[in-house]
Amino acid sequence: MKITIVGCGNMGMIYARAFLKYNIVSKENLLLAEKSEKRKEELLKLNIGQVCVVNDKRISESDIVILAVKPQDFEMLSLELRQVLTSDNIIISIMAGMKLGRISSALVKHNIIRAMPNSPAELGMGMTAFTASKVLSIEQIRKAENLLATTGRTVFFENEDLLDAVTALSGSGPAYFFYIVKQMIEAGKSMGFDEATSAMLVKQTMLGSFHLINTANKSLDELIQAVASRGGTTEAALTVFEDQNVGKGLQQGIIKARDRASQLSQ
Ligand SMILES: NC(=O)c1ccc[n+]([C@@H]2O[C@H](COP(=O)([O-])OP(=O)(O)OC[C@H]3O[C@@H](n4cnc5c(N)ncnc54)[C@H](OP(=O)(O)O)[C@@H]3O)[C@@H](O)[C@H]2O)c1
Repeated sequence: MKITIVGCGNMGMIYARAFLKYNIVSKENLLLAEKSEKRKEELLKLNIGQVCVVNDKRISESDIVILAVKPQDFEMLSLELRQVLTSDNIIISIMAGMKLGRISSALVKHNIIRAMPNSPAELGMGMTAFTASKVLSIEQIRKAENLLATTGRTVFFENEDLLDAVTALSGSGPAYFFYIVKQMIEAGKSMGFDEATSAMLVKQTMLGSFHLINTANKSLDELIQAVASRGGTTEAALTVFEDQNVGKGLQQGIIKARDRASQLSQ
């Protein structure tokens, strides 16, 4: 297998490391295409693949070309990249909000996968949803999925429009989780704990509770009921959350994120 990663920042490097970890590609067959001289020098020192420019002829021999640049850099990049791409390359874009049609017309190629990963990909615990151009075969889609799955779980959607909701739910999801954890730590501090103690109480609670969701064989409502006895402390907190519409607020925020994703991808 030969792979090119175009744009070796945060996400590009996560994929490079995951592919090497699972022996999907050798360092010799992994091309790392970057723009700035400074970044190229840094990549050379890391010694995890062959560093090259975006119009390097070797890119045309790649089975898979991953586009991991920021969406705003894509139009410029596409002018150079399309000179070396062939119709045999499968292109996987992870650029947020960049639609298949737009990638396809900028590169004048049709073998495109559009994927939306999230930041826990760094730990191999990511969630990636993806869609594909109609011309791709099942074999080609599977090949791409095997690569995406090196960073966590994957799900395929035939309907590209659903990727806006994915962006809002699992793409931005880590930030919602961090936000809730932060509010809990702040509440701990306002009750007299120092930051470290409050963070320990909250983080271990979130970790254990996450595992209960997957192992306790109970619904979320049953899990809530099991902690909240009538007239007790948990119920006091939940009543305030209900009165303040915290749950509805979270849901509305996520729907707003979906709408923004769809606006940005137009
Ligand atoms: N981070 C996330 O959690 C996440 C989640 C889902 C999707 N994504 C998507 O992943 C993509 C990459 O995000 P990131 O966080 O990894 O960004 P990043 O760290 O900024 O990495 C992008 C890299 O691409 C390079 N680049 C820019 N223009 C280039 C060109 N013409 N040719 C070659 N390389 C070029 C940049 O170099 P310079 O710095 O020199 O410009 C940078 O090293 C984005 O499209 C984003 O929407 C990110």
